[in-house]
Amino acid sequence: MQPRIIVHGGAGTYTDEHLLKSKPAIQQICHQAHEFLKSNSAKDTAIFAVQLLEDCPLFNAGTGSRLQTDGKARMTAAFMESTRRKFSAVINIENIQNPINVAAKLQEEKNSVLGGPEATKFAHNIGCKEYDPITEEKRLELNTLTEEKFGTVGVVVLDSQGKIAAATSTGGTSACRPGRVGDVASPAGTYCDTHAGVSCTGRGEDIQNAVLASRIVFTAQNKTLQDAVKESFINFNQRKGSAGIIALDHNGVVVVHHNTPHMVFAYNKQEEIVTY
Ligand code: GLY
Repeated sequence: MQPRIIVHGGAGTYTDEHLLKSKPAIQQICHQAHEFLKSNSAKDTAIFAVQLLEDCPLFNAGTGSRLQTDGKARMTAAFMESTRRKFSAVINIENIQNPINVAAKLQEEKNSVLGGPEATKFAHNIGCKEYDPITEEKRLELNTLTEEKFGTVGVVVLDSQGKIAAATSTGGTSACRPGRVGDVASPAGTYCDTHAGVSCTGRGEDIQNAVLASRIVFTAQNKTLQDAVKESFINFNQRKGSAGIIALDHNGVVVVHHNTPHMVFAYNKQEEIVTY
């Protein structure tokens, strides 16, 4: 099986300045993760890639997360892979560097989704250090933004054993009500089975209403991945939602689709990394 990886850094309306910086960054992260995939599983590679994305302040996850109206960064991340087909996630976790590590660690727990201060407490109990993910840019943005901005990072990986993993992480939408929960930590935003994996980005409320990620994966059980994405977006567009998705199936077929003006993503075509 030829390993494949696809990563995204969000969908929405981006300035030329943002695109100029984020495209080389996503290219570099995809390259690093693809090299890692050569000697690691889909699960470990998905976690590794999301860590890199969370650590890059250009993207809305981990360091550089958008702030809620009370000035706090509350972060959300989810993980799922084809062996266990178990969904795990953290919701509105604070003051740690890599929410994806905590979401992945919850694969081992009976209660696999944790939220709020208890999620933060769990993270500290498993060894995550206190960390301030708020950047000066996002602090300024909170005072100046007039429109809703969203964004997310995500990864889908197929390893040489044919296993698939999907992972997503986000700081949520800009200037939202404290405690808001989007799509990421639900099967609407992140989903994976033995057939395919999907990670979404966009307006979380729209993605939840359409249960977009799991809809694509379930539809792909009887159709090609391309047709499953096309059909799911017909429904999504009728609802006037805004989103982008990355999808990858067990044959190594990659599909990307977005109805937003821009989406930042990269994937491997054998040894070549293709970036948009
Ligand atoms: N798609 C990320 C969010 O709405 O929270």
